[in-house]
Amino acid sequence: MKGVILAGGLGSRLMPCTKVTNKHLLPVYDKPMIYYPIMTLVNAGIEDILIVTGGNHAGEFLRLLGNGKEFGLKDISYTFQEGEGGIADALKLAEHFAKDEKIFVILGDNIAEDNVRAHVNDFINQPKGAKVFLKEVPDPERFGVAVIKDGVIISIEEKPRDPKTNLAVCGLYMYDNEVFDIAKNLKPSNRGELEITDVNNEYIRRKSMTYSILKGWWTDAGTFESLFKASCLVAEKCVRKD
Ligand code: G1P
Repeated sequence: MKGVILAGGLGSRLMPCTKVTNKHLLPVYDKPMIYYPIMTLVNAGIEDILIVTGGNHAGEFLRLLGNGKEFGLKDISYTFQEGEGGIADALKLAEHFAKDEKIFVILGDNIAEDNVRAHVNDFINQPKGAKVFLKEVPDPERFGVAVIKDGVIISIEEKPRDPKTNLAVCGLYMYDNEVFDIAKNLKPSNRGELEITDVNNEYIRRKSMTYSILKGWWTDAGTFESLFKASCLVAEKCVRKD
């Protein structure tokens, strides 16, 4: 399985910090944000990684990460998203890289404590389809929200005003190769973007979506509140280790 980290976007919720750098290069406690999704993939045994970036500061990723030696990788692949087409639009750029393999997609601002290696192995054995990670949160209206019936996800609503559950869909997704055809056939949402939730709902419609509950803490870091929370969680973990 190959790994894809989506690290484009303008980071408008973190202005003015993102005026002069990419969101995913901002610090989360003692490391740049992008380090965490890379470590999540590497700790799960994924060594072939593509970073999809975009915007004005894309060159800085190469300066920071180079060939990935610091993470024990042989190299890192990079590609560039033109414009602001959304997460599912960025995903299309990974088709050439994925070839016929399954992919683990992680949003560059998602930070998870859990080691997901066992889930990756489960998905390698899943004949087809997709798998998402869910987590109970106090503020589901900020996320994609899953509805479960008889142990199966029956729908995901993107940032609902009135969430039906408190199960957020984390920004960690595993897909088979059908994801690229699904992404190509999407229509832009009201905010003019191709939404990852629409990709996931198509897998649900095809009855090939499974899920796992993410253990440990998980947070995004795309707003000042969540960026601060992410730094605190990482700092506490570092202190616990010492
Ligand atoms: C995105 C997805 C959302 C998901 C979230 C996880 O939201 O659209 O479904 O729950 O990531 O971080 P965004 O942060 O791009 O608004």
